[in-house]
Amino acid sequence: MSDTPTPVGSKQFDYAYHLQLDQLLTSMRQVTTHPEEHLFVTVHHVLEIWFKHIIFDLDRVIVMLDSDQINQANWLLNRLGEIMRLAEAHWTVLETMTAADFAEFRADLTGASGMQSRQFRQVEVMVGLCETAGPEYIERVEKLWPGLRAEHPRSLRAAFFDVFQRRAISLLDVYRERWTQHDLFQLAEHAFELDRRFQSWRHNHILMVRRQIGIRARGTGGTFFKDYLASTTQYYFFPELFEFRNDLTEAAGGEVMAKGDEA
Ligand code: HEM
Repeated sequence: MSDTPTPVGSKQFDYAYHLQLDQLLTSMRQVTTHPEEHLFVTVHHVLEIWFKHIIFDLDRVIVMLDSDQINQANWLLNRLGEIMRLAEAHWTVLETMTAADFAEFRADLTGASGMQSRQFRQVEVMVGLCETAGPEYIERVEKLWPGLRAEHPRSLRAAFFDVFQRRAISLLDVYRERWTQHDLFQLAEHAFELDRRFQSWRHNHILMVRRQIGIRARGTGGTFFKDYLASTTQYYFFPELFEFRNDLTEAAGGEVMAKGDEA
């Protein structure tokens, strides 16, 4: 079989042609001679491919919600949560590279860092982080990726809350009436799960970072943990979906402290 995939016949094509394997499998650029760099680059590639797919499906989910296709949106949102669950599993694979191995080639990565991933930021913006993370986050996005916010004027978050508004029902009532309002209940659960999985991905990335370079080491992107990564665990897309659970507990007679006293 030739290395260059070609269409087979006029209407049929083969596996390598369909998947553009010539491009995919020649995009490994090792900048060091260390054999462990291969795994390091592979994990980044795989995650970037998943980010691309998440972006693709997010566009679809937002359109579905805006046209009240709740069941269809639920199906895809559930998938996005599953993808994030899978994305998180990559950290344990990357942790099979020892910290000593990483230390041997890390300096040669110069200034390259995952924080420069445009797609990662695009996912955050599309889900709606600019609406919840505060002005410092927005400023950083605008500075590093001018035009990114404008590309995505409609977030998943906005589309989500507009559905609840059109149906004139609160989150609390949806959970109380979860079997008659089942589509909205599932929508809220899938959105919660996506947020929770994202958060889990962040936490486990941090645990992996602690293992591979240590908590006091400066990242290749130039930041220290306490100045950057630490603050990212405060980012939630749907804080309301976490917050209203206190109301559920309180409404059922549970003791709940005043908002703001929890930290
Ligand atoms: C040994 C492996 C890794 C280490 C030690 C590491 C370390 C770090 C550090 C220290 C930062 C903070 C910015 C900086 O100064 O560089 C960071 C950010 C980031 N890394 Fe990693 N990383 C690793 C692997 C990965 C992989 C495989 C991905 C996959 C795409 C990734 C994605 C990200 C993202 C998206 C950010 C920005 C997070 C945010 O802004 O919330 N990292 N990483």
